[in-house]
Amino acid sequence: MTRRTTVIAIDGPAASGKSSTAQMVAERLGFLHIDSGSLYRAATAAILRSDHDPSAWTEESVLAAAAPVELRTARTSCYPTLAGKAIEDEIRGHDVTRNVSRVAQMPRIREWVNAKVRAAAESANVVVDGRDMGTVVFPDADLKIFLIADSRERAARRLRQRGTPTSEQLLDDETIRIRERDERDAKQTVPAPDAITIDTTALSQSEQVDQIVALSKDRV
Ligand code: DC
Repeated sequence: MTRRTTVIAIDGPAASGKSSTAQMVAERLGFLHIDSGSLYRAATAAILRSDHDPSAWTEESVLAAAAPVELRTARTSCYPTLAGKAIEDEIRGHDVTRNVSRVAQMPRIREWVNAKVRAAAESANVVVDGRDMGTVVFPDADLKIFLIADSRERAARRLRQRGTPTSEQLLDDETIRIRERDERDAKQTVPAPDAITIDTTALSQSEQVDQIVALSKDRV
């Protein structure tokens, strides 16, 4: 079936500012923002509640644990719930962040996330963000953006976001963690051939949003 809604896909590596930028673009355009990473995180939070040994996780056990996960809509944003309860703090926590790449490597979990994201885009114009939105999930997206930024700048943004006082040591440690995550997620973090790459290293948040909104007005 052909899609009748508009899709803006924003992909890129960890801490490239995808989700906050996608949320602001969605607000400016009156679209719905879907953060696909939040679903990988929700599946990871669900399995962590029942099994603390990630090496024992299988596609079946993760899928079963994730069955009560739903994507709820609140104005221009979506958030996952587990058994009807919002789990935002849990999915952003350390345990989930450390283990989510393992879950994101599982093909059947990828299909489960993709189906939920596609379903949400059936009834609303959306800004979706993740790693493979423009390649796998919406190869026919109306606009595809790939956001990149220098790893040290991404680390600095992460620390600022957490409100952590920054020292050179903390910045070095966070840069290493970001590069490790880049390696773990490298397979699915590839720009679509028709994506527009924006290097945000020297851009402010509002400059990024302005650029994408301007591109969307040309294309959409
Ligand atoms: O963007 P994030 O840090 O919330 O993503 C969480 C994890 O999910 C990360 O390991 C990358 C993975 N992910 C993915 O493989 N594909 C997506 N479309 C979104 C996220």
